[in-house]
Amino acid sequence: MTELKVLAVASEVAPLVKTGGLADVAGALPLALKAEGVATRTLVPGYPAVLAKLERAEIVHDFIELFGGPATLLAAEASGLDLFVLDAPHLYARPGGPYVDEEGKDYADNAFRFAALAKAGSAIGRGLLESFRPDILHAHDWQAGLAPAYLHYSGGPRPGALFTIHNIAFQGKFQKSILDDLGLPPHSFALEGVEYYGGVGFLKAGLQFADRITTVSPSYAVEITTAEFGMGLEGLLRARAGVLSGILNGVDENVWNPAADARIAAPFGASSLAARVKNKSALQRRLGLKEDERAFLIGAVSRLSWQKGLDLLLEDLSFFIERNAQLALLGAGDRELENAFAAAARVHAGRIGVQLGYDEDLAHLIQAGCDAFLVPSRFEPCGLTQLYALRYGAVPIVARVGGLRDTIIDANEMALAAGVATGFQFSPVTADALSFALRKAAGLFEGEAAWRVLQANGMKTDVSWRGPARKYAELYRSVIAEEPR
Ligand code: ADP
Ligand code: GLC
Repeated sequence: MTELKVLAVASEVAPLVKTGGLADVAGALPLALKAEGVATRTLVPGYPAVLAKLERAEIVHDFIELFGGPATLLAAEASGLDLFVLDAPHLYARPGGPYVDEEGKDYADNAFRFAALAKAGSAIGRGLLESFRPDILHAHDWQAGLAPAYLHYSGGPRPGALFTIHNIAFQGKFQKSILDDLGLPPHSFALEGVEYYGGVGFLKAGLQFADRITTVSPSYAVEITTAEFGMGLEGLLRARAGVLSGILNGVDENVWNPAADARIAAPFGASSLAARVKNKSALQRRLGLKEDERAFLIGAVSRLSWQKGLDLLLEDLSFFIERNAQLALLGAGDRELENAFAAAARVHAGRIGVQLGYDEDLAHLIQAGCDAFLVPSRFEPCGLTQLYALRYGAVPIVARVGGLRDTIIDANEMALAAGVATGFQFSPVTADALSFALRKAAGLFEGEAAWRVLQANGMKTDVSWRGPARKYAELYRSVIAEEPR
Protein backbone atom coordinates (compact mmCIF):
# COMPACT_ATOMS: atom_id res chain seq x y z
CA MET A 1 0.00 0.00 0.00
CA THR A 2 1.61 3.29 -1.01
CA GLU A 3 1.55 5.94 1.64
CA LEU A 4 -0.96 8.65 0.99
CA LYS A 5 -0.42 12.28 1.97
CA VAL A 6 -3.35 14.31 3.23
CA LEU A 7 -3.46 17.99 4.07
CA ALA A 8 -6.28 18.53 6.55
CA VAL A 9 -7.49 22.12 6.95
CA ALA A 10 -9.33 22.88 10.19
CA SER A 11 -10.02 25.92 12.35
CA GLU A 12 -9.64 24.02 15.63
CA VAL A 13 -7.78 20.93 16.76
CA ALA A 14 -7.76 19.23 20.18
CA PRO A 15 -5.96 19.46 22.49
CA LEU A 16 -4.57 22.77 21.22
CA VAL A 17 -7.77 24.72 20.68
CA LYS A 18 -11.33 23.47 21.02
CA THR A 19 -14.84 24.85 21.00
CA GLY A 20 -16.61 21.61 20.08
CA GLY A 21 -16.50 18.24 18.40
CA LEU A 22 -14.69 19.45 15.29
CA ALA A 23 -11.54 19.84 17.38
CA ASP A 24 -11.90 16.32 18.77
CA VAL A 25 -12.20 14.93 15.24
CA ALA A 26 -9.34 17.00 13.79
CA GLY A 27 -7.15 15.89 16.70
CA ALA A 28 -7.94 12.18 16.59
CA LEU A 29 -8.55 11.20 12.96
CA PRO A 30 -4.92 11.78 11.82
CA LEU A 31 -3.64 9.39 14.48
CA ALA A 32 -6.10 6.68 13.43
CA LEU A 33 -5.31 7.22 9.74
CA LYS A 34 -1.66 6.26 10.30
CA ALA A 35 -2.70 2.62 10.58
CA GLU A 36 -4.33 2.96 7.15
CA GLY A 37 -1.14 4.16 5.48
CA VAL A 38 -2.26 7.78 5.46
CA ALA A 39 0.08 10.54 6.65
CA THR A 40 -1.87 13.65 7.61
CA ARG A 41 -0.60 17.15 8.17
CA THR A 42 -3.15 19.53 9.61
CA LEU A 43 -3.16 23.22 8.78
CA VAL A 44 -4.48 25.37 11.62
CA PRO A 45 -4.54 29.11 12.36
CA GLY A 46 -1.76 30.42 14.59
CA TYR A 47 -3.96 31.50 17.48
CA PRO A 48 -1.92 32.39 20.58
CA ALA A 49 -3.06 29.15 22.27
CA VAL A 50 -1.72 27.12 19.36
CA LEU A 51 1.60 28.96 19.05
CA ALA A 52 2.23 28.48 22.75
CA LYS A 53 2.02 24.70 22.48
CA LEU A 54 4.18 24.01 19.44
CA GLU A 55 7.15 21.70 19.59
CA ARG A 56 9.94 21.81 17.00
CA ALA A 57 8.48 24.62 14.90
CA GLU A 58 10.34 25.72 11.77
CA ILE A 59 9.50 28.33 9.17
CA VAL A 60 8.74 26.75 5.81
CA HIS A 61 7.34 29.71 3.91
CA ASP A 62 6.82 33.46 4.17
CA PHE A 63 3.74 35.04 2.67
CA ILE A 64 4.65 38.67 2.07
CA GLU A 65 1.02 39.73 2.12
CA LEU A 66 -1.98 37.68 3.13
CA PHE A 67 -5.19 39.67 3.54
CA GLY A 68 -3.69 42.74 5.12
CA GLY A 69 -0.36 41.71 6.56
CA PRO A 70 2.57 39.34 6.35
CA ALA A 71 2.20 35.72 7.43
CA THR A 72 4.55 32.86 8.15
CA LEU A 73 3.88 29.21 7.58
CA LEU A 74 5.36 26.97 10.25
CA ALA A 75 5.80 23.21 10.17
CA ALA A 76 5.52 21.94 13.71
CA GLU A 77 4.54 19.11 15.98
CA ALA A 78 2.28 19.20 18.98
CA SER A 79 0.59 16.43 20.96
CA GLY A 80 1.67 13.82 18.43
CA LEU A 81 0.13 15.75 15.51
CA ASP A 82 2.02 16.96 12.44
CA LEU A 83 0.92 20.50 11.85
CA PHE A 84 1.24 23.44 9.56
CA VAL A 85 0.51 26.60 11.48
CA LEU A 86 -0.39 29.83 9.74
CA ASP A 87 1.18 32.51 11.89
CA ALA A 88 -0.56 35.72 10.83
CA PRO A 89 -0.64 38.08 13.82
CA HIS A 90 -2.90 40.61 12.08
CA LEU A 91 -5.56 37.90 11.81
CA TYR A 92 -5.10 35.63 14.82
CA ALA A 93 -3.11 37.33 17.59
CA ARG A 94 -6.12 38.34 19.68
CA PRO A 95 -7.49 37.62 23.15
CA GLY A 96 -10.98 36.06 22.78
CA GLY A 97 -11.79 32.71 21.14
CA PRO A 98 -11.12 31.31 17.68
CA TYR A 99 -14.25 32.92 16.20
CA VAL A 100 -15.53 35.48 18.70
CA ASP A 101 -14.04 38.28 20.77
CA GLU A 102 -14.12 38.54 24.54
CA GLU A 103 -17.69 39.86 24.42
CA GLY A 104 -18.80 36.84 22.43
CA LYS A 105 -19.19 38.78 19.17
CA ASP A 106 -17.99 37.37 15.84
CA TYR A 107 -14.77 39.06 14.70
CA ALA A 108 -15.70 41.52 11.95
CA ASP A 109 -12.99 40.13 9.66
CA ASN A 110 -13.79 36.41 10.02
CA ALA A 111 -14.17 36.13 6.25
CA PHE A 112 -10.52 37.08 5.78
CA ARG A 113 -9.26 35.22 8.83
CA PHE A 114 -10.53 31.97 7.34
CA ALA A 115 -10.00 32.84 3.69
CA ALA A 116 -6.33 33.13 4.66
CA LEU A 117 -6.40 29.63 6.09
CA ALA A 118 -8.06 28.30 2.93
CA LYS A 119 -5.67 30.17 0.68
CA ALA A 120 -2.61 28.81 2.47
CA GLY A 121 -4.17 25.34 2.26
CA SER A 122 -4.78 25.64 -1.43
CA ALA A 123 -1.21 26.92 -2.00
CA ILE A 124 0.23 23.89 -0.19
CA GLY A 125 -2.15 21.75 -2.25
CA ARG A 126 -0.73 23.27 -5.40
CA GLY A 127 2.83 22.37 -4.47
CA LEU A 128 4.07 25.42 -2.53
CA LEU A 129 6.34 23.22 -0.46
CA GLU A 130 8.91 20.86 -1.89
CA SER A 131 8.79 18.83 1.34
CA PHE A 132 5.05 18.09 1.39
CA ARG A 133 2.89 17.63 -1.67
CA PRO A 134 -0.48 16.29 -0.60
CA ASP A 135 -2.49 13.80 -2.66
CA ILE A 136 -5.65 15.00 -0.94
CA LEU A 137 -6.80 18.23 0.65
CA HIS A 138 -9.40 17.50 3.33
CA ALA A 139 -11.30 20.64 4.35
CA HIS A 140 -13.48 20.77 7.48
CA ASP A 141 -16.53 23.02 7.92
CA TRP A 142 -17.14 26.52 6.54
CA GLN A 143 -13.88 27.96 7.84
CA ALA A 144 -12.02 25.77 5.34
CA GLY A 145 -14.72 25.97 2.67
CA LEU A 146 -12.88 28.26 0.28
CA ALA A 147 -9.91 25.87 -0.01
CA PRO A 148 -11.55 23.69 -2.70
CA ALA A 149 -12.69 26.89 -4.47
CA TYR A 150 -9.20 28.39 -4.50
CA LEU A 151 -7.88 25.06 -5.79
CA HIS A 152 -10.44 25.16 -8.56
CA TYR A 153 -9.93 28.76 -9.67
CA SER A 154 -6.15 28.70 -9.63
CA GLY A 155 -6.07 26.21 -12.53
CA GLY A 156 -3.66 23.37 -13.35
CA PRO A 157 -3.24 20.00 -11.66
CA ARG A 158 -4.50 19.83 -8.10
CA PRO A 159 -4.86 17.29 -5.31
CA GLY A 160 -8.18 15.59 -4.71
CA ALA A 161 -10.51 17.61 -2.51
CA LEU A 162 -12.70 16.28 0.25
CA PHE A 163 -15.05 18.41 2.28
CA THR A 164 -16.56 17.35 5.60
CA ILE A 165 -19.67 18.99 7.03
CA HIS A 166 -19.62 18.91 10.81
CA ASN A 167 -22.51 21.30 11.21
CA ILE A 168 -24.57 22.79 8.41
CA ALA A 169 -25.96 25.49 10.70
CA PHE A 170 -22.71 27.44 10.46
CA GLN A 171 -22.38 28.49 6.84
CA GLY A 172 -19.94 31.40 6.60
CA LYS A 173 -22.07 33.66 4.43
CA PHE A 174 -20.62 37.11 3.67
CA GLN A 175 -21.43 40.12 1.51
CA LYS A 176 -20.88 40.00 -2.21
CA SER A 177 -18.65 43.09 -1.98
CA ILE A 178 -15.74 41.06 -0.54
CA LEU A 179 -15.45 38.79 -3.59
CA ASP A 180 -12.64 40.76 -5.18
CA ASP A 181 -10.72 41.16 -1.92
CA LEU A 182 -10.91 37.39 -1.45
CA GLY A 183 -8.97 37.06 -4.69
CA LEU A 184 -11.77 35.21 -6.44
CA PRO A 185 -12.53 35.98 -10.10
CA PRO A 186 -15.76 37.85 -10.99
CA HIS A 187 -17.16 34.81 -12.79
CA SER A 188 -16.96 32.84 -9.52
CA PHE A 189 -20.02 34.81 -8.39
CA ALA A 190 -22.42 32.34 -9.94
CA LEU A 191 -24.72 29.51 -9.03
CA GLU A 192 -22.02 27.03 -10.01
CA GLY A 193 -19.42 29.07 -8.07
CA VAL A 194 -19.28 30.63 -4.63
CA GLU A 195 -22.49 32.68 -4.86
CA TYR A 196 -24.95 31.84 -2.10
CA TYR A 197 -28.29 33.62 -1.72
CA GLY A 198 -26.83 36.86 -3.04
CA GLY A 199 -23.63 36.70 -0.97
CA VAL A 200 -20.43 34.65 -0.85
CA GLY A 201 -20.93 31.29 0.84
CA PHE A 202 -17.85 29.60 2.26
CA LEU A 203 -19.65 26.36 3.14
CA LYS A 204 -21.43 26.47 -0.19
CA ALA A 205 -18.07 26.85 -1.95
CA GLY A 206 -16.70 23.76 -0.24
CA LEU A 207 -19.75 21.73 -1.21
CA GLN A 208 -19.61 23.00 -4.78
CA PHE A 209 -15.95 22.24 -5.51
CA ALA A 210 -15.06 19.17 -3.44
CA ASP A 211 -14.65 15.85 -5.24
CA ARG A 212 -16.31 14.14 -2.30
CA ILE A 213 -18.54 15.50 0.45
CA THR A 214 -18.87 13.71 3.72
CA THR A 215 -20.73 14.41 6.88
CA VAL A 216 -20.36 12.74 10.23
CA SER A 217 -23.16 10.18 10.20
CA PRO A 218 -25.14 8.28 7.57
CA SER A 219 -28.47 9.60 8.89
CA TYR A 220 -27.34 13.24 8.79
CA ALA A 221 -26.12 12.67 5.21
CA VAL A 222 -29.71 11.89 4.29
CA GLU A 223 -31.31 14.52 6.55
CA ILE A 224 -29.36 17.42 5.02
CA THR A 225 -30.83 16.72 1.60
CA THR A 226 -34.24 17.72 3.02
CA ALA A 227 -35.64 21.20 3.64
CA GLU A 228 -36.12 20.37 7.34
CA PHE A 229 -32.38 19.89 8.01
CA GLY A 230 -30.58 21.29 4.95
CA MET A 231 -30.79 24.92 6.08
CA GLY A 232 -30.91 26.22 2.52
CA LEU A 233 -28.25 23.89 1.12
CA GLU A 234 -30.54 20.90 0.51
CA GLY A 235 -30.88 21.64 -3.22
CA LEU A 236 -27.12 21.66 -3.81
CA LEU A 237 -26.71 18.56 -1.65
CA ARG A 238 -29.41 16.73 -3.59
CA ALA A 239 -27.64 17.67 -6.82
CA ARG A 240 -24.38 16.29 -5.39
CA ALA A 241 -25.93 13.27 -3.67
CA GLY A 242 -23.76 10.96 -5.80
CA VAL A 243 -20.61 12.12 -4.01
CA LEU A 244 -22.16 12.66 -0.56
CA SER A 245 -21.79 10.10 2.21
CA GLY A 246 -21.80 9.81 5.98
CA ILE A 247 -18.92 8.46 8.08
CA LEU A 248 -19.43 8.32 11.84
CA ASN A 249 -16.97 9.90 14.22
CA GLY A 250 -15.03 7.80 16.68
CA VAL A 251 -13.67 8.31 20.16
CA ASP A 252 -10.06 9.15 20.95
CA GLU A 253 -9.48 6.22 23.26
CA ASN A 254 -6.34 7.74 24.73
CA VAL A 255 -8.32 10.68 26.03
CA TRP A 256 -11.60 8.95 26.85
CA ASN A 257 -10.72 5.75 28.68
CA PRO A 258 -12.40 5.17 32.06
CA ALA A 259 -9.75 2.63 33.09
CA ALA A 260 -6.96 5.20 32.84
CA ASP A 261 -8.51 8.63 33.21
CA ALA A 262 -6.61 10.94 35.53
CA ARG A 263 -9.50 13.41 35.50
CA ILE A 264 -11.96 11.18 37.35
CA ALA A 265 -12.21 10.17 41.00
CA ALA A 266 -11.79 6.42 40.51
CA PRO A 267 -10.87 4.48 37.38
CA PHE A 268 -13.09 1.56 36.36
CA GLY A 269 -13.79 -0.84 33.52
CA ALA A 270 -16.54 -3.19 32.37
CA SER A 271 -15.38 -5.80 34.88
CA SER A 272 -14.95 -3.34 37.74
CA LEU A 273 -18.15 -1.31 37.51
CA ALA A 274 -18.54 -1.26 41.29
CA ALA A 275 -15.79 1.37 41.49
CA ARG A 276 -17.95 3.66 39.39
CA VAL A 277 -20.00 4.73 42.39
CA LYS A 278 -17.04 6.71 43.76
CA ASN A 279 -17.30 8.91 40.70
CA LYS A 280 -21.02 9.33 41.30
CA SER A 281 -20.41 10.56 44.86
CA ALA A 282 -17.59 12.83 43.70
CA LEU A 283 -19.86 14.32 41.04
CA GLN A 284 -22.71 14.81 43.50
CA ARG A 285 -20.37 16.62 45.87
CA ARG A 286 -18.84 18.69 43.08
CA LEU A 287 -22.23 20.02 41.94
CA GLY A 288 -23.87 20.35 45.34
CA LEU A 289 -26.25 17.45 44.73
CA LYS A 290 -27.54 15.31 47.58
CA GLU A 291 -25.06 12.46 48.02
CA ASP A 292 -27.33 9.52 47.34
CA GLU A 293 -26.18 6.35 45.62
CA ARG A 294 -29.75 5.45 44.68
CA ALA A 295 -30.73 8.73 43.08
CA PHE A 296 -31.06 8.47 39.28
CA LEU A 297 -28.34 10.89 38.18
CA ILE A 298 -28.64 12.33 34.69
CA GLY A 299 -25.63 14.07 33.16
CA ALA A 300 -25.25 16.50 30.26
CA VAL A 301 -22.20 18.26 28.82
CA SER A 302 -23.07 20.59 26.01
CA ARG A 303 -22.96 23.85 24.21
CA LEU A 304 -26.15 25.62 25.28
CA SER A 305 -27.81 26.42 21.97
CA TRP A 306 -31.08 25.74 20.22
CA GLN A 307 -29.47 22.79 18.41
CA LYS A 308 -28.83 20.90 21.63
CA GLY A 309 -32.47 20.98 22.83
CA LEU A 310 -31.66 21.24 26.54
CA ASP A 311 -34.29 23.97 26.84
CA LEU A 312 -36.83 21.13 26.62
CA LEU A 313 -35.78 20.05 30.11
CA LEU A 314 -36.63 23.48 31.49
CA GLU A 315 -40.16 23.23 30.14
CA ASP A 316 -40.92 20.45 32.57
CA LEU A 317 -38.78 19.79 35.63
CA SER A 318 -41.48 17.70 37.32
CA PHE A 319 -39.54 14.51 36.64
CA PHE A 320 -36.74 15.62 38.96
CA ILE A 321 -39.20 16.54 41.67
CA GLU A 322 -41.49 13.49 41.50
CA ARG A 323 -38.77 10.84 41.20
CA ASN A 324 -35.57 10.50 43.14
CA ALA A 325 -33.69 11.99 40.19
CA GLN A 326 -30.88 14.50 39.79
CA LEU A 327 -29.35 16.54 36.98
CA ALA A 328 -25.63 17.29 36.55
CA LEU A 329 -25.23 19.81 33.75
CA LEU A 330 -22.05 21.39 32.41
CA GLY A 331 -22.68 23.87 29.65
CA ALA A 332 -21.94 27.23 28.12
CA GLY A 333 -23.51 29.30 25.40
CA ASP A 334 -26.76 31.28 25.08
CA ARG A 335 -27.00 33.69 27.99
CA GLU A 336 -30.74 33.13 28.39
CA LEU A 337 -30.32 29.39 28.72
CA GLU A 338 -27.39 29.81 31.08
CA ASN A 339 -29.49 32.05 33.31
CA ALA A 340 -32.49 29.74 33.21
CA PHE A 341 -30.41 26.72 34.27
CA ALA A 342 -28.66 28.71 36.98
CA ALA A 343 -32.08 29.72 38.30
CA ALA A 344 -33.36 26.13 38.21
CA ALA A 345 -30.30 25.05 40.20
CA ARG A 346 -31.09 27.66 42.85
CA VAL A 347 -34.75 26.67 43.12
CA HIS A 348 -34.05 22.93 43.14
CA ALA A 349 -30.76 22.90 45.04
CA GLY A 350 -29.62 19.35 45.76
CA ARG A 351 -31.51 17.94 42.78
CA ILE A 352 -30.34 20.13 39.93
CA GLY A 353 -26.64 20.88 39.74
CA VAL A 354 -25.35 23.27 37.09
CA GLN A 355 -21.85 24.40 36.25
CA LEU A 356 -21.66 27.10 33.61
CA GLY A 357 -18.52 27.50 31.52
CA TYR A 358 -16.05 25.20 29.85
CA ASP A 359 -14.38 22.58 32.04
CA GLU A 360 -12.57 19.60 30.54
CA ASP A 361 -12.06 17.84 33.91
CA LEU A 362 -15.70 18.10 34.93
CA ALA A 363 -16.76 16.86 31.47
CA HIS A 364 -14.93 13.62 32.24
CA LEU A 365 -16.25 13.32 35.79
CA ILE A 366 -19.84 13.71 34.57
CA GLN A 367 -19.38 10.87 32.07
CA ALA A 368 -17.85 8.70 34.81
CA GLY A 369 -20.35 9.54 37.52
CA CYS A 370 -23.78 9.92 35.98
CA ASP A 371 -26.18 7.00 35.50
CA ALA A 372 -27.68 8.26 32.25
CA PHE A 373 -26.34 10.84 29.81
CA LEU A 374 -28.78 13.13 28.04
CA VAL A 375 -28.47 14.47 24.46
CA PRO A 376 -31.88 15.87 23.41
CA SER A 377 -30.66 17.59 20.21
CA ARG A 378 -33.04 18.99 17.58
CA PHE A 379 -30.39 18.04 15.04
CA GLU A 380 -27.06 16.32 15.59
CA PRO A 381 -24.60 15.67 12.77
CA CYS A 382 -22.84 13.00 14.83
CA GLY A 383 -22.45 13.93 18.47
CA LEU A 384 -19.49 12.74 20.49
CA THR A 385 -20.72 12.94 24.06
CA GLN A 386 -23.11 9.99 23.66
CA LEU A 387 -20.12 7.96 22.43
CA TYR A 388 -18.06 8.93 25.46
CA ALA A 389 -21.07 7.96 27.59
CA LEU A 390 -21.13 4.47 26.03
CA ARG A 391 -17.47 4.01 26.95
CA TYR A 392 -18.01 5.27 30.50
CA GLY A 393 -21.01 3.09 31.33
CA ALA A 394 -23.42 6.05 31.36
CA VAL A 395 -26.58 5.04 29.49
CA PRO A 396 -27.40 7.56 26.73
CA ILE A 397 -30.88 9.06 26.41
CA VAL A 398 -30.94 10.73 22.99
CA ALA A 399 -33.19 12.36 20.44
CA ARG A 400 -33.79 10.16 17.39
CA VAL A 401 -31.89 12.35 14.91
CA GLY A 402 -28.66 12.27 12.91
CA GLY A 403 -25.70 10.56 14.50
CA LEU A 404 -27.63 9.94 17.72
CA ARG A 405 -30.01 7.70 15.78
CA ASP A 406 -27.05 5.86 14.25
CA THR A 407 -25.02 5.23 17.40
CA ILE A 408 -27.50 4.29 20.14
CA ILE A 409 -29.69 1.19 20.07
CA ASP A 410 -33.04 2.04 21.64
CA ALA A 411 -34.29 -0.09 24.51
CA ASN A 412 -37.51 -1.06 22.73
CA GLU A 413 -39.09 -4.40 23.48
CA MET A 414 -37.36 -6.18 20.64
CA ALA A 415 -33.90 -4.84 21.45
CA LEU A 416 -34.39 -5.60 25.14
CA ALA A 417 -35.51 -9.15 24.35
CA ALA A 418 -32.51 -9.63 22.07
CA GLY A 419 -30.23 -8.13 24.72
CA VAL A 420 -28.69 -5.57 22.37
CA ALA A 421 -30.03 -2.22 23.61
CA THR A 422 -27.51 0.46 24.61
CA GLY A 423 -29.74 3.41 25.51
CA PHE A 424 -32.97 5.28 24.84
CA GLN A 425 -34.12 7.21 21.78
CA PHE A 426 -37.09 9.54 21.76
CA SER A 427 -38.98 11.38 19.07
CA PRO A 428 -40.42 13.81 18.21
CA VAL A 429 -37.98 16.16 19.92
CA THR A 430 -40.49 17.64 22.35
CA ALA A 431 -40.67 18.13 26.11
CA ASP A 432 -43.40 15.46 26.32
CA ALA A 433 -41.44 12.80 24.46
CA LEU A 434 -38.36 13.64 26.50
CA SER A 435 -40.24 13.40 29.76
CA PHE A 436 -41.65 10.03 28.69
CA ALA A 437 -38.14 8.77 27.88
CA LEU A 438 -36.77 9.96 31.23
CA ARG A 439 -39.52 8.12 33.07
CA LYS A 440 -38.98 4.95 31.07
CA ALA A 441 -35.24 5.11 31.77
CA ALA A 442 -35.86 5.68 35.48
CA GLY A 443 -38.04 2.57 35.50
CA LEU A 444 -35.27 0.44 34.05
CA PHE A 445 -32.71 1.99 36.38
CA GLU A 446 -34.77 0.83 39.34
CA GLY A 447 -34.86 -2.73 37.95
CA GLU A 448 -31.10 -2.96 38.38
CA ALA A 449 -30.34 -6.09 36.32
CA ALA A 450 -31.75 -4.70 33.07
CA TRP A 451 -29.75 -1.51 33.62
CA ARG A 452 -26.51 -3.48 33.99
CA VAL A 453 -27.16 -5.07 30.60
CA LEU A 454 -27.55 -1.64 28.99
CA GLN A 455 -24.32 -0.49 30.58
CA ALA A 456 -22.42 -3.61 29.56
CA ASN A 457 -23.69 -3.43 25.98
CA GLY A 458 -22.62 0.21 25.73
CA MET A 459 -19.18 -0.44 27.13
CA LYS A 460 -18.48 -3.20 24.64
CA THR A 461 -19.68 -1.22 21.61
CA ASP A 462 -16.81 -0.41 19.25
CA VAL A 463 -16.75 3.40 19.13
CA SER A 464 -13.08 3.60 18.16
CA TRP A 465 -11.72 5.51 15.19
CA ARG A 466 -10.54 2.28 13.48
CA GLY A 467 -13.63 1.67 11.36
CA PRO A 468 -14.20 5.34 10.45
CA ALA A 469 -10.50 5.85 9.59
CA ARG A 470 -10.64 2.90 7.20
CA LYS A 471 -13.64 4.49 5.47
CA TYR A 472 -11.89 7.85 5.08
CA ALA A 473 -8.81 6.09 3.67
CA GLU A 474 -10.99 4.23 1.15
CA LEU A 475 -12.63 7.46 0.12
CA TYR A 476 -9.29 9.24 -0.30
CA ARG A 477 -8.08 6.37 -2.49
CA SER A 478 -11.24 6.40 -4.59
CA VAL A 479 -10.67 10.10 -5.36
CA ILE A 480 -7.06 9.52 -6.32
CA ALA A 481 -8.10 6.69 -8.63
CA GLU A 482 -10.01 9.28 -10.67
CA GLU A 483 -6.91 11.21 -11.78
CA PRO A 484 -6.10 13.24 -13.77
CA ARG A 485 -7.96 16.25 -12.47
P1 ADP B 1 -20.70 19.92 19.17
O1 ADP B 1 -19.44 19.83 18.38
O2 ADP B 1 -21.90 20.16 18.32
O3 ADP B 1 -20.63 20.87 20.30
P2 ADP B 1 -20.10 17.17 19.97
O4 ADP B 1 -20.89 16.24 20.82
O5 ADP B 1 -19.61 16.65 18.69
O6 ADP B 1 -20.99 18.48 19.81
O7 ADP B 1 -18.79 17.63 20.73
C1 ADP B 1 -18.79 18.40 21.87
C2 ADP B 1 -17.44 18.31 22.54
O8 ADP B 1 -17.25 19.44 23.36
C3 ADP B 1 -17.30 17.11 23.45
O9 ADP B 1 -15.95 16.73 23.51
C4 ADP B 1 -17.78 17.66 24.80
O10 ADP B 1 -17.30 16.93 25.89
C5 ADP B 1 -17.19 19.05 24.74
N1 ADP B 1 -17.92 20.06 25.52
C6 ADP B 1 -19.08 20.68 25.21
N2 ADP B 1 -19.40 21.59 26.13
C7 ADP B 1 -18.42 21.55 27.07
C8 ADP B 1 -18.18 22.27 28.30
N3 ADP B 1 -19.02 23.21 28.73
N4 ADP B 1 -17.06 21.96 28.99
C9 ADP B 1 -16.21 21.00 28.55
N5 ADP B 1 -16.39 20.31 27.42
C10 ADP B 1 -17.48 20.58 26.67
C1 GLC C 1 -20.37 19.40 15.03
C2 GLC C 1 -21.67 18.69 15.34
C3 GLC C 1 -21.49 17.41 16.11
C4 GLC C 1 -20.30 16.60 15.61
C5 GLC C 1 -19.05 17.48 15.61
C6 GLC C 1 -17.82 16.73 15.11
O1 GLC C 1 -20.03 20.38 15.94
O2 GLC C 1 -22.60 19.53 15.97
O3 GLC C 1 -22.66 16.63 16.00
O4 GLC C 1 -20.08 15.48 16.45
O5 GLC C 1 -19.26 18.56 14.76
O6 GLC C 1 -18.02 16.15 13.85
